[in-house]
Amino acid sequence: TIYRPKDASLSPLSSKTILFAGYGNQARSQALNLRDTLASNPDISAPKILIANRVDSYHETAIADGFSVTGFAEGAKGADVVFLLVPDQVAPTLYNSEIGPNLKTGALVVVASGFNIFYKRLEVEGVDVGMIAPRMIGAGVRSRFLEGEGFPCFVSVENNSSGRALEMVLSLALGVGGLSAGAVECSARDETLMDLFAEQAIWPSIIVAFREAYSTLKKLGCSDEALVHEMWLSKEPAEVFEKCAEDGFISQLKYHSIVSQYGQLSTSLGMDVTALQEFFKKVAEKRILGGEFTKEFTDIDNKGGGNGMEKKLEELYAAASTSELAIGEKRVRERMGLD
Ligand code: NAI
Repeated sequence: TIYRPKDASLSPLSSKTILFAGYGNQARSQALNLRDTLASNPDISAPKILIANRVDSYHETAIADGFSVTGFAEGAKGADVVFLLVPDQVAPTLYNSEIGPNLKTGALVVVASGFNIFYKRLEVEGVDVGMIAPRMIGAGVRSRFLEGEGFPCFVSVENNSSGRALEMVLSLALGVGGLSAGAVECSARDETLMDLFAEQAIWPSIIVAFREAYSTLKKLGCSDEALVHEMWLSKEPAEVFEKCAEDGFISQLKYHSIVSQYGQLSTSLGMDVTALQEFFKKVAEKRILGGEFTKEFTDIDNKGGGNGMEKKLEELYAAASTSELAIGEKRVRERMGLD
């Protein structure tokens, strides 16, 4: 199902209290969009929009934008809707200790990512849960709304204690501008699976393909300058992906030369992909759906007094910087004065 503005109305929001927990990338854009939508629909008896935030720079931004800012527990007490828009690793402790216990029966919690719902990290029994998950960074959520274009978005209902969750989720999605480009119905499970799969299977395969291609061609005499330009500095891959979205994943091949079209099609159709299929299946079924990855991630993050992931990422960046691609690129960027 693809939901469009005609499938929703703003009236379920009448006189409600809507709390944004967090005022970061997504929260700020969505709160501003909702306020603008309501301002241009004065026939709706305006809901109250509140921000809950700890005292930090985001808190100051919310006040500068003209919102009232409250504490998490206090805000949750009076809220009909809570947009839970803090980082995913922060949300469980914050929600389970301060927000959830203070919510009234029938309140709706809206997440922008399926992760904490699918892995049952939020104690949400007894409340409605919906997902409005933009496929777009926060800045794009705001700029596309202002341009009247809308942004791609996934929506779902995960808990429907009240029986009215879908109507409410669509109403909120309409308010934040998430229906204008068509919102695709997609569960928290599927959103989590696709998101983590892209991060742990598709992009790593692309990183490895580029890294190994670089070493192979370097051994055959190609220079660092030529390789870096040929492979990504020219921005050709970015243009190809843009054409994939505009014209179609396969149809965009028609923009390439006949030599290129024949090479790409015949090779991709003829490749032995058994190992890749096995790798993809293992990532999807064991690491993501089987929960191996979240356990590994949480264990690392909890180490060293809670900054285990920071240290681990430093190690991983150091390891990634030893490849021929990384060393070659560093040399080229220095010579060209790009860094
Ligand atoms: P963000 O990183 O911009 O969040 C910052 C906000 O979280 C601030 O209000 C800050 O005060 C608060 N915060 C940070 N640490 C905190 C702590 N320890 N205790 C209390 N508050 C804390 O978050 P972002 O990127 O907007 O993500 C929010 C949700 O949106 C997540 O579920 C994310 O997966 C989802 N999402 C994010 C997208 C993006 O482009 N950033 C795209 C689509 C979904």
